[in-house]
Amino acid sequence: MMEIKELFKSYKDYVNKEVEIHGWIKKSRESKTIGFLEINDGSFFNNVQVIVNGDLLNFKEIFSLGIYAAVNVKGILVEPENAKQDFEIQATEIEILNDSDKDYPLQNKRHTFEFLRTLPSLRARTNAFNAVFRVRSELAFAIHKFFNERGFVYIHTPLITASDAEGAGEMFRVTTLDLNNPPRDEEGKVDNSKDFFGALSNLTVSGQLEVEGFAMAYSKVYTFGPTFRAENSNTPRHAAEFWMIEPEIAFAELKDVMAVAEDMVKYIVKHVMEKLPEEMNLFDQFVEKGIKERLTKLVNSEFKKVTYTEAVEILQKSGKKFDYPVEWGSDLQTEHERYLTEEVFHGPVFVTDYPKDIKSFYMKLNDDKKTVAAMDMLVPGVGELIGGSERENDLETLLQLMEEKGINAEDYKWYSDLRRFGGVKHGGFGLGFERMVMYMTGMKNIRDVLPYPRTVHSMR
Ligand code: 4AD
Ligand code: MG
Repeated sequence: MMEIKELFKSYKDYVNKEVEIHGWIKKSRESKTIGFLEINDGSFFNNVQVIVNGDLLNFKEIFSLGIYAAVNVKGILVEPENAKQDFEIQATEIEILNDSDKDYPLQNKRHTFEFLRTLPSLRARTNAFNAVFRVRSELAFAIHKFFNERGFVYIHTPLITASDAEGAGEMFRVTTLDLNNPPRDEEGKVDNSKDFFGALSNLTVSGQLEVEGFAMAYSKVYTFGPTFRAENSNTPRHAAEFWMIEPEIAFAELKDVMAVAEDMVKYIVKHVMEKLPEEMNLFDQFVEKGIKERLTKLVNSEFKKVTYTEAVEILQKSGKKFDYPVEWGSDLQTEHERYLTEEVFHGPVFVTDYPKDIKSFYMKLNDDKKTVAAMDMLVPGVGELIGGSERENDLETLLQLMEEKGINAEDYKWYSDLRRFGGVKHGGFGLGFERMVMYMTGMKNIRDVLPYPRTVHSMR
């Protein structure tokens, strides 16, 4: 049995020899005396053409099968003259493994991504999604390879947690309580705050706080796992369940964190372009023209840097009419981020030193006491790809920042105590994995880079 990808690589060794493949029928046409099948097993884009002579015992049965019926084919590999294919298989025996019903929804025509979204369990069978999810897999591998080669330790942070790392309160509760019959206190008031063995529990929004503890043990660590946000953002860039890569580095400042982020993005882009050239060609041809050139440029460029304060000035002076006004102190909106990266910097840009009031409690307070040592990496087409910061390592300042944000310091003692026991300056970032896949493929909607997207209005 040969995988189709392998066969395309080494067919020259099999000319006029017997080969065996299995796969699904992508196309089929026949006359009385001869028929043609195109077979694929999903390991490669190109289909294998199989020639079936009319005298094959089950010829009729084979050509009454539906699209995506599964077959096992034995035959002789031949090099056709004047044909489009490199090779064909002259079938000697075809075993039918399973038919496919005639109402199979993916007939041979181009379907829109919107339509294919309604078929999450089938859409990976199309060339575009086959390529997207292969890139997703290869990107994940490249990320592990990048960190592994640099001595980072991979930490599995918990998915069920009591902490709210981003302080936005957009968490999914996890509970074992019977909410139809909630627990009550002595006065009969509902108290359903003690979900799990007496503690409030949620699905994690970020593994950062937990992984910071491990950074103080190993110096260089990262976590890579699913995260959950119950934000009601129905946009092409937000999902309720998405994956995040979060490195955390001890003895590091913001500039060191940005250097790792830049190196990582370049490394993984280069890895995928080298490893999956056919997939990249497909995106270039059908999804976003020029994407290969854009990514090649990125790998060879130096990412720009601008402070939040400078960015606000640039936006204000741009004369462009934005839906949301720009003023110092308010968060940059996607339209602002895209303008900066697409029309001002024409490539990735780090925006640094945001006002403390719009950022999380753990970020290091700058000397001006108004801004924090934070950074966002913005990229064309996607906007915010990465968010990170140096962490506040001074216990007093950290406790004060928590108080300002209304966070109960007692709940985070395990975290702030890291400062008391040999805490050193440190920082890290979070890369939104789906946004990286979007950037790498040119896909414009996060729903099209998640195998089974969990977004507002899409639970199946
Ligand atoms: O900027 P965020 O919220 O940062 C953190 O969670 C930090 N704890 C990271 C750290 O410093 N360790 O999220 C990081 C990235 C964003 O830049 C974005 O790419 C992605 O995660 N992201 C989302 N992706 C898809 N859907 C959502 N709802 C997302 N929210 C954030
Ligand atoms: Mg962010």
